[in-house]
Amino acid sequence: MSLLQGRSIVVTGAGRGIGRETALLCARLGASVIVNDPGVSETGTGGDPGPAAEVVREIEACGGRAVASLDSVADWVGAQRLVGAALSAFGRLDGVVNNAAILRDKIFHQLDPADWDAVVKTDLYGPFYVSRAAAPHFREQSSGAMVHMTSGSALIGNLAQAHYMAAKLGVVGLSKSIALDMARYNVRSNCVSPTAMSRLTGTIPTSSRGGAERLRQLEKAAPAKIAALVAFLLSDLAREVNGQVIGARANELYVYSQTRPLRLVSRSEGWTAQSIAEVALPALRPAFTPLERTSDVFSWDPL
Ligand SMILES: NC(=O)c1ccc[n+]([C@@H]2O[C@H](COP(=O)([O-])OP(=O)(O)OC[C@H]3O[C@@H](n4cnc5c(N)ncnc54)[C@H](O)[C@@H]3O)[C@@H](O)[C@H]2O)c1
Repeated sequence: MSLLQGRSIVVTGAGRGIGRETALLCARLGASVIVNDPGVSETGTGGDPGPAAEVVREIEACGGRAVASLDSVADWVGAQRLVGAALSAFGRLDGVVNNAAILRDKIFHQLDPADWDAVVKTDLYGPFYVSRAAAPHFREQSSGAMVHMTSGSALIGNLAQAHYMAAKLGVVGLSKSIALDMARYNVRSNCVSPTAMSRLTGTIPTSSRGGAERLRQLEKAAPAKIAALVAFLLSDLAREVNGQVIGARANELYVYSQTRPLRLVSRSEGWTAQSIAEVALPALRPAFTPLERTSDVFSWDPL
């Protein structure tokens, strides 16, 4: 029997890139798929039913089951409709892949509230809305798996992405909280930090330091490589994996560290600004995290 046989899975942003490959693989592994994608531009404007319809056509042509959804994840009612579509089309819901996202890179002092709102609404509210819509069903059936796309940009850092970094780190907190709250109902929640050539990565400015290098590295990293990890996390093979952040880039898989205190200093008389500078700082400094970007940490070509 195929890995996801009989399962019903919602994949958001499934019309292109990583979401598309995830939807196609889930269907090949036996799942019925809601292919959610309003077909917006990389900044979240416009709309086109074509990408979602094309993925549905491809799945059906291979004998699979899929339904297109053009709802925006950035809308509470749309997210409810999206989950409702899985229940009415397939009679159940077993997995949610929060993959949809947009980018509007702007250096911080030029970032305006409209760009902040649009990115946070899609990239953080979206995963909350869709997960929250699915949660009561998962609780009732005592099973379910959620996979949320975070980003190395948030976990490590990149220029001109304050809104994207805030949203994608928010997704890590959201996922961890769902993992903690819903473990008792046999519901798992994990994050994937993908690296793959797609429309979004095509927006990386080649003029920026490291930009051209990142794009060159990405040429080897196909979105289909990410889909295998997502399918694993959705399946029962991952029953012991909950609350984790796992990265994938070409043939590499890596587990990300999660924040813990690294060094501690204490003084019975408490601290002053001066004693922090003189005593605490030299003791804590070796544990400071360098202010790096993803290209500093991933300095080798994808393997
Ligand atoms: N490609 C990478 O290297 C990379 C790196 C880090 C994180 N990610 C994350 O992986 C995910 C997929 O990215 P991708 O590179 O495949 O991007 P992509 O632009 O190719 O695909 C994203 C899809 O999401 C859809 N979408 C946008 N807003 C939506 C909304 N409101 N509702 C529903 N769908 C919406 C778009 O129409 C698009 O088809 C994103 O969450 C992204 O942040 C990707």
